[in-house]
Amino acid sequence: MSSYDVIIIGSGPGGYVSAIRCAQLGLKTACVEGRDTLGGTCLNVGCIPSKALLHATHMLHEAEHNFGEMGLKGKSPSVDWNQMQAYKQNTIDTNTKGIEFLFKKNKIDWIKGWATIPEAGKVKVGDDIHEAKNIIIATGSEPASLPGVEVDEKVVVTSTGVLSLNKVPKKMVVIGAGVIGLEIGSVYARLGSDVTVVEYLDAITPGMDAEVQKNFMRILKKQGINFIMGAAVQGTEASKSKAKVTYKLRKDESEHTLDADVVLVSTGRKPFHDGLDLNGLGVEMTKRGQIAVNDHWETSVKGIYAIGDVIEGPMLAHKAEDEGMAVAAVVAGKHGHVNYGVIPGVIYTHPEVANVGMTEEQLKEAGRAYKVGKFSFMGNARAKAVFAGEGFVKIIADKDTDRVLGAHIIGPAAGDLIHEVCVAMEFGASAEDLAMTCHAHPTYSEAVREAALACGDGPIHM
Ligand code: NAI
Repeated sequence: MSSYDVIIIGSGPGGYVSAIRCAQLGLKTACVEGRDTLGGTCLNVGCIPSKALLHATHMLHEAEHNFGEMGLKGKSPSVDWNQMQAYKQNTIDTNTKGIEFLFKKNKIDWIKGWATIPEAGKVKVGDDIHEAKNIIIATGSEPASLPGVEVDEKVVVTSTGVLSLNKVPKKMVVIGAGVIGLEIGSVYARLGSDVTVVEYLDAITPGMDAEVQKNFMRILKKQGINFIMGAAVQGTEASKSKAKVTYKLRKDESEHTLDADVVLVSTGRKPFHDGLDLNGLGVEMTKRGQIAVNDHWETSVKGIYAIGDVIEGPMLAHKAEDEGMAVAAVVAGKHGHVNYGVIPGVIYTHPEVANVGMTEEQLKEAGRAYKVGKFSFMGNARAKAVFAGEGFVKIIADKDTDRVLGAHIIGPAAGDLIHEVCVAMEFGASAEDLAMTCHAHPTYSEAVREAALACGDGPIHM
């Protein structure tokens, strides 16, 4: 038996970041992980591999659509799927090994296996019981199941199976127009699959700014993705290599079917805490099956904390990372803080979509007076030079104080641009503060400044 100041269960972005910070703060730290590699869903079967495939297929798109116009002539590249998979795996490996290196560097013990918590202060892995003054649960989430849909990870797949298909499917049906469905739908559409997204609601990407939703859908349609909206999937029937998807249109209850070679189920994720026996420990849960925590990420059982997808809030790697750092500070007797009002969201399609803070819809509902500054990438010289003039930056500021309340961007590098607005919001900046800041020319970021200018005396290039 070994004893630690803190044992973290799970090595995803929440768990591994927390482990590193705990160790940096002088705590004797171990992290339990049952997978063969560190990094959790994000590094192994989520954010990182999907970004590799998004990058590779975006390059293909550029070669097919824009090279000629730039005077780059010659045969378009053909797809070597096995090599693309190898590139994806290499990206995973370098990242997961990187975490292993950081664990060694910070003297964090990786306890290999699946953990249970027999009682507060104890973590059991295999036959070994380890003592821990503090336990942090960071066990993440798993794809939610859909009634009538049986996943085999070959024909009917989740976000995990879809990254390792043995070939590019001719026809793919995506259930759910959320982040996963649209990112992965984009990958396969660029590879030549006929992709149809079936979505229950009337708009894609639930909760996003309505104008972004509308424009995003228009752009994706132009890229060849088909949408069936207001349609509730009832079930799937799969054989060895084909599937049939049945859906009901909400407007008239009529039932329809679609044939597919692969069906991606991307209708949300649910917290994963199997095997920990939280009931037996008396850990309180929320109605939605998340672990309930207080302001310091402590559960109803003293000394047991929880962070990331397994607790309330957006299921985002960076939200988990922030909580991981904050809870480490708490466990080390310091102050930990996460500003849940300034957590950006990014969809890594092309163009990218990013948002932070309030939407117009939320502000209307709250009855708060606001103003909007909007700037199209068509007015941004850099974007136009690289075929990226589609989209816009929208900044929302308080009508009276000019304080920035949110931003919604669809366009080139939106996922990076959003962060200057995040920093502005953290500092309680006004739109004028953003507008008065010199932005290098020619950069995409000038579009953010122009949108901020549009909150005041007006943009220059529109
Ligand atoms: P999601 O919650 O984003 O979207 C699910 C969609 O499925 C919704 O639009 C919903 O209306 C629809 N739906 C549900 N039941 C349906 C039915 N029976 N028929 C038709 N449509 C139905 O879920 P998603 O895309 O699976 O993502 C899961 C989580 O992973 C999210 O919290 C997301 O934020 C996170 N994630 C984030 C990424 C990023 O930040 N880039 C990338 C991948 C995942």
